[in-house]
Amino acid sequence: MALWSGRFEEGVDAFTQRFGASLPVDKQLYLQDILGSVAHAEMLAAQGVISTEDFEAIRAGLLSIRDDIEAGSFVFDINDEDIHMAIESELTRRIGDAGARLHTGRSRNDQVATDSRLYVKKRASELMAANVALREALLELALRHPNVIMPGYTHMQHAQPVLFSHHMLAYVWMFTRDFQRLLGARISADVNPLGSAALAGTTYPLDREATTAMLGFSFPSQNSLDAVSDRDFFLDLLYACSVSCLHLTRLCEEIILWSTSEFGFVTLSDSYSTGSSIMPQKKNPDFAELIRGKSGRVIGDLVALMVTLKSLPLAYNKDLQEDKEGAIDAADTLEDCYVCAAGMLSTMTIHPDAMLAAAGEGYLAATDIADYLAKKGMPFRRAHEVVGHLVLLCDKRGCRLDDLAFEDFREQSDLFEEDIVDCLDLASIVEARDTIGGTSSHQVAHQIEALRSQIAQDKTSI
Ligand code: ARG
Repeated sequence: MALWSGRFEEGVDAFTQRFGASLPVDKQLYLQDILGSVAHAEMLAAQGVISTEDFEAIRAGLLSIRDDIEAGSFVFDINDEDIHMAIESELTRRIGDAGARLHTGRSRNDQVATDSRLYVKKRASELMAANVALREALLELALRHPNVIMPGYTHMQHAQPVLFSHHMLAYVWMFTRDFQRLLGARISADVNPLGSAALAGTTYPLDREATTAMLGFSFPSQNSLDAVSDRDFFLDLLYACSVSCLHLTRLCEEIILWSTSEFGFVTLSDSYSTGSSIMPQKKNPDFAELIRGKSGRVIGDLVALMVTLKSLPLAYNKDLQEDKEGAIDAADTLEDCYVCAAGMLSTMTIHPDAMLAAAGEGYLAATDIADYLAKKGMPFRRAHEVVGHLVLLCDKRGCRLDDLAFEDFREQSDLFEEDIVDCLDLASIVEARDTIGGTSSHQVAHQIEALRSQIAQDKTSI
């Protein structure tokens, strides 16, 4: 019998019972539900709404249920619609009337909103910790290979040489922004809806400030209708997870490309690769591909909740029960992806020679030769054209810019002097990019310092 069955004459239909239930998903919120109930009962007792003995019995009963769930000995009854019903019915079975007093001045509508917010606060913090671990793995990779030169790309074409460490740090900045988004999701969840009851508040003298403090929330919600229908905190978490998954796909895509025979920039460790059941030579980057692939589901979770929330009238509607599955899935998936990416990066072998050799192809010095002429007074557009002719010459001869003779340069412009060779050297090209955020080793060292202190600061807000 459902806890709300008083006004019903017919029993429950097995199909609609299953269709309407959320227990298979929301049982994951058992701890938040129990903590919320203990706080509510303690406050009811302090306000004289229930007796201290009832509160003591409620607390002991709830904690024993928690222990049984954690020991794996609690048997969930599939006839219980959701985690709130499951715990409350069991409590009443265990302690009798005191259990039946727990729901005084409360509705499942404020209860589920409270549980969900406590859950998001906890999961956001856990994701923030995993985000930091991934950033540390990337930073470590940059530190281990400080002066490795690789081709930088635009349009997937060789553009200008950059430091491999600079390239890795670009991802650290992305994940630093993701950390802020996760923190933002935690802040939006940090409001206590308990005490809003079904939709309009309650006639009992609830002390909402007290439950807010007991549950570690920063503020009580200020509008009961909004409090029971607001799921923005789930959207914020889903958006933060989606953007971070998207960033992971960009990183993984590069790792996959770099581990091809064509690139040969990196080799993934055996534990982050798999073999083929038919081709004995194969070593596939399955885990990088899986991280890339899982983003589809996480972004889908965000879109699904947005569509579910769209056009919902105030206040609580059962549609909202669909909110938890995707949010839990997105958080679990992102956490696994962070862990997997960190392990994959820390065990990956870098091939500096292959990167440097690739940087020697594709006329990466072209911009610097044009800058050389421009610095000697030639208008940049004209210098661009002169270097274009030199590139064409190389194309025709099938050689590199540094294979050209000094006379070849002089034929294009008499501004060229012997020091043009400095512009052809990849290390000098890299070091010359010494403005803030540039790829010179000096600027990269600054970035590392900035990111280190950012990470140290972020750790204090987990
Ligand atoms: N299982 C429900 C949910 O997840 C709990 C709230 C139900 N409230 C109600 N009035 N039916 O949304």
